Amino acid sequence: MNPTNRRRFLQLLSAGSAAGLAGACADEAPAPTHFKDTTPFIAHGRTNLETRLERLGGFLTPNEDFFVRNNDKSLDVDASSYRLEVGGDAVQRPLSLSYRDILALPSRTVFSYLECGGNQRAFFGSAQGRVAQGTQWGRGAVGMAVWTGVSLGDVLARAKLLPSARNVQLTGLDAGAPEGGFRRPLPLEKAIDPDTLLAYRMNGATLPRDHGFPLRAVVPGWVGSSSIKWLGRIEVSAGEIWSRNNTTSYVLMGDGYAPQGQASGQVATLQSVKSVLALPWPAAMPQGRHTLRGYAYSPHAPIRGVRWSADGGSSFSEARILEPRWLYSWARFELEWEAAPGEHVLVTTARDEAGNEQPETLAYNEKGYLYNVPLRHPIRVGD
Ligand code: MTE
Repeated sequence: MNPTNRRRFLQLLSAGSAAGLAGACADEAPAPTHFKDTTPFIAHGRTNLETRLERLGGFLTPNEDFFVRNNDKSLDVDASSYRLEVGGDAVQRPLSLSYRDILALPSRTVFSYLECGGNQRAFFGSAQGRVAQGTQWGRGAVGMAVWTGVSLGDVLARAKLLPSARNVQLTGLDAGAPEGGFRRPLPLEKAIDPDTLLAYRMNGATLPRDHGFPLRAVVPGWVGSSSIKWLGRIEVSAGEIWSRNNTTSYVLMGDGYAPQGQASGQVATLQSVKSVLALPWPAAMPQGRHTLRGYAYSPHAPIRGVRWSADGGSSFSEARILEPRWLYSWARFELEWEAAPGEHVLVTTARDEAGNEQPETLAYNEKGYLYNVPLRHPIRVGD
């Protein structure tokens, strides 16, 4: 214990204050910020947990392995007193819904991957030589789940929107997050897409607290910051809505990204087409024939194919794509590789049914969103 802490500790002892002692303990072991076991993850700071893709094998990402991106600590919301408030200048009938009210509405189930807009940000630095601001996520700020809840559009219909309604802002109950509640506006068109959900179940279980219990938005295909957790308020407006998350955050800023309205660049909406091997980074394996697995995903359309190369991109082969291949779901792929001893680089590149594919290069943006250049996966093969 350093002298200052020791003095403080002795003062607390002489004051005999239980609260003070609790404070001293808290100083030394900060309160946990998550409810789930954090040991399977790559931790970034105190609040962010990256999935180790090599732990995955199936189509769905188990809740215990699903990445967490929090701007403050996870909330423990009491469902019995929970309310979802719906209002705004384009609402004729403001609502205040309990958890039970929401469970009683017609339910809908959607398979959708969820990815942070900053996933793969670290590669701007390690592959393109320009480090971008923000959490240095590798490849695991993405997961695939089946979500059950109510269509946001059904809730909005009950609030009787005015014909002038244009934008819908979702705000979380996490008062410690920026703006006193993490929030993000959506255009009405995306908000009323039947697949835009307010979810209360994830992979067949009650929505876990780390993922937004009792209710979170799931906005398929869009940057994960749109999928507000611990949802507390919905505001519908006839005008534009500007908040941190569509002006300075989740905005592509830099050369070639002109400001849009009050945004300092191009607002990030849809994610981009990507592919990843479900291997550690870097990977190591014995020589011989291996079946390597991976995931490919696109917000635009189902995955059509994944090509892979073990010779630095001079020649490519087609990977085997497993079913299902659905819009908003990732697809699993497999490839057979005859691994010879030495250092290798495997490259994979995905394309979707709408003709989108991973680009050879990508313009830098200051906050490092939407990186999707084909990754060069380092693999060491032993004798
Ligand atoms: N919602 C609230 N209320 N607070 C947050 O910090 N983070 C957002 C989004 N919803 C966030 C939030 C971001 S940036 C992402 S990528 C996703 O939640 C991550 O969802 P997950 O933690 O369930 O994986």
